[in-house]
Amino acid sequence: MSASLLSLRGLGKDYGARTAVAAVDLEIARGTIVGLLGPNGAGKTTTISMIAGVITPSRGSATVAGHPVAAGAAGFAARRAIGLVPQDLALYEDLTADQNLAFFGAIYGMSGAALVRRMDWALGVVGLADRRGDAVATYSGGMKRRLNLAAGLLHEPALLILDEPTVGVDPQSRHHIFDTIRALRDGGMTILYTSHYMEEVAELCDRVAIMDDGTVIAQGSIAELVARHAGPPVIELELAGDDAALLAARALAARHGPIDVDGAIVRLPRPRALGQLVLDVETAGVRVVRVTAATTDLEGVFLTLTGHSLRD
Ligand SMILES: Nc1ncnc2c1ncn2[C@@H]1O[C@H](COP(=O)(O)OP(=O)(O)O)[C@@H](O)[C@H]1O
Ligand SMILES: [Mg+2]
Repeated sequence: MSASLLSLRGLGKDYGARTAVAAVDLEIARGTIVGLLGPNGAGKTTTISMIAGVITPSRGSATVAGHPVAAGAAGFAARRAIGLVPQDLALYEDLTADQNLAFFGAIYGMSGAALVRRMDWALGVVGLADRRGDAVATYSGGMKRRLNLAAGLLHEPALLILDEPTVGVDPQSRHHIFDTIRALRDGGMTILYTSHYMEEVAELCDRVAIMDDGTVIAQGSIAELVARHAGPPVIELELAGDDAALLAARALAARHGPIDVDGAIVRLPRPRALGQLVLDVETAGVRVVRVTAATTDLEGVFLTLTGHSLRD
């Protein structure tokens, strides 16, 4: 068996003439948090729905813990290894947290003392043990998300898949969800975390797969992706001088490339001759008080690879 807990080979899905997911290849190592990052419509939910056996792929294959993802009995072991926390909350508002979890446990074939033990554990992990007897209708949005997470954990899956679990939650619940995910990873669980927020993925994930328009366009650690794809750093000059001199200096800087002005700071991508740039702007009567290479990040990676911003 390979070191990968999850392995996707050319996995894809068409809806009529529309290709939702082209052909995804992805390897996820045990005990890591991997972010599936991409804008709305990129194909993230479709990809994880195929992995979880919720929808049937049009092509390709997947294995979870060495078990094939397949319909019916052939896919039972793979489905058993997965906990899916969907984006849309699947909770009964009139029932308590305990009653909701008992319902989901029954779906997984759990009952009796074993189910109660798992419920105690899952409620403890998500920090809802003291509210377990209250109706879900009395919960905040963040608490509902955490209960949803507990439902996905009940059968102690090897692979936990979360679909945009922080959309619409308060910062405190988001923080709690992140801590929970890290603790589960440290306990040996493997996590696939879907999001369109690059800040979240940068903060939480060990590795990232970037998805756009139905295709995984890059994967690796954030440091690897930035080194490989973010392009040469942007150069930042801080200028000092009177308004007329600053204006003239900006015009001279603009001859070296498209400039972005922020008060006395001028940024340029990829200047060909940095020394010449500094000499040129100084002829306008300004002083260059600082030169730095601004850090590039996942946004830069996405922009380089797709030609558009993740925030569009
Ligand atoms: N059941 C469906 N029928 C037709 N098109 C779909 C269906 N589900 C998703 N799509 C399309 O597939 C693409 C990817 O959707 P989705 O996987 O939901 O993206 P994401 O989760 O990254 O926002 C979108 O263009 C979406 O409109
Ligand atoms: Mg989605």
